[in-house]
Amino acid sequence: MSNMIRTETESSISIRELRKSYGRTRGANQQFAIDGVSFEVPQGQFVTLLGPSGCGKTTTLRCIAGLETPDSGQIVMAGSTVFDGGKSQNIRTEDRPIAMVPQSYGIWPHMTVLDNAAFPLRHGRHRKGQQNIKQRTMEILDQVGLAPFADRWSTQLSGGQQQRLALARALLSEPEVLLLDEPLSNLDAKLRSKLRVELREFQERFGVTSVYVTHDQAEALALSDIVVVMSNGRIEQIDPPERLYQQPKSAFVADFIGSANLVPARNTTRLSDGLLVRTDIGSFLCGSQGQETPSSASTGNVCIRPENVEVHTATSSRIGLADQNEMFGRVIGAEFLGDRLELVVDLDGTKLTASTSAVLAARPGDSVVVRVHPVHARYLAA
Ligand SMILES: Nc1ncnc2c1ncn2[C@@H]1O[C@H](COP(=O)(O)OP(=O)(O)OP(=O)(O)O)[C@@H](O)[C@H]1O
Ligand SMILES: [Mg+2]
Repeated sequence: MSNMIRTETESSISIRELRKSYGRTRGANQQFAIDGVSFEVPQGQFVTLLGPSGCGKTTTLRCIAGLETPDSGQIVMAGSTVFDGGKSQNIRTEDRPIAMVPQSYGIWPHMTVLDNAAFPLRHGRHRKGQQNIKQRTMEILDQVGLAPFADRWSTQLSGGQQQRLALARALLSEPEVLLLDEPLSNLDAKLRSKLRVELREFQERFGVTSVYVTHDQAEALALSDIVVVMSNGRIEQIDPPERLYQQPKSAFVADFIGSANLVPARNTTRLSDGLLVRTDIGSFLCGSQGQETPSSASTGNVCIRPENVEVHTATSSRIGLADQNEMFGRVIGAEFLGDRLELVVDLDGTKLTASTSAVLAARPGDSVVVRVHPVHARYLAA
């Protein structure tokens, strides 16, 4: 790796203005699989690329791995530039400080657990003497709880054990960065949630910087320090899970992360305690944190999470309504989900979904009052 250029960023990945197109079209009609993607992966952190199918997650990961050559942009890894479109610099995959865990785990059935895990030490950048290999491999198999199975055929492992073997093998090459492309997507829901906890534990224990790809928002929220939300080859938002959920920057993010009621809105006015906007069902004071001030002519949506739609039945609600954030409605759908009741409330033709207490006595046809606390109303400019 002596031909790499050292830069100021130590031990993290820095992706700058990465573009990648497939096929031969050039010029104005050029279609980019990723189009100006920039983000940072701080050392030791777990960063997830999240977005719908075809948005460019795998392409980004493969560019980081050196398996695809970007059209332009820069990739800096552990302080060294591994790709620079401007300088035609492109470090080969095998010379990048990475290990990739593919979706299928890439475990060889004709090898034992030990031989599978030891593969990078026998053949990779970190080739070692025979004696060291066995000892080092056994150490790591022990750490992932697979030492007792070292001499088994890898086909005799369960799904979860195979994942741990794939991880052990990736970690043995002592990568600066671990790249994981939807490693849990082949598994059933129960095993998936168990393994994602385990995966995060390993990542923390080994402190390895990780870039994880998924289209599953629950997985992204549960696992990540930072989530990079992508859509159509571009980045929509980069934030920690909580902020992403509470302060989405666009209707796309609000809708993709969790579920959201999006009520078309216009005529924004800045007040001391928030942004007053008009909608077809009345005025909303949007007092959500980090709310930017748009122009008064701005159009967009008021975003309200279902769990923040308070529903009051006619008997419990007071007479008359406040000027804002309260309106009359009629329940048109009620779904009992065990721990909660999911209601659809019609307000003059606009439907709001509310996730309420399972014991609320609300049935289709009931008149209700809907309230949304200003801190839970967020205006998103279109
Ligand atoms: N080898 C290829 N040749 C041509 N087009 C490709 C190739 N690989 C990907 N693409 C296109 O690039 C875009 C991004 O694809 P990519 O595989 O990065 O998406 P993704 O976010 O990983 O999707 P998924 O969640 O389905 O895996 C898509 O439009 C896809 O059709
Ligand atoms: Mg993919």
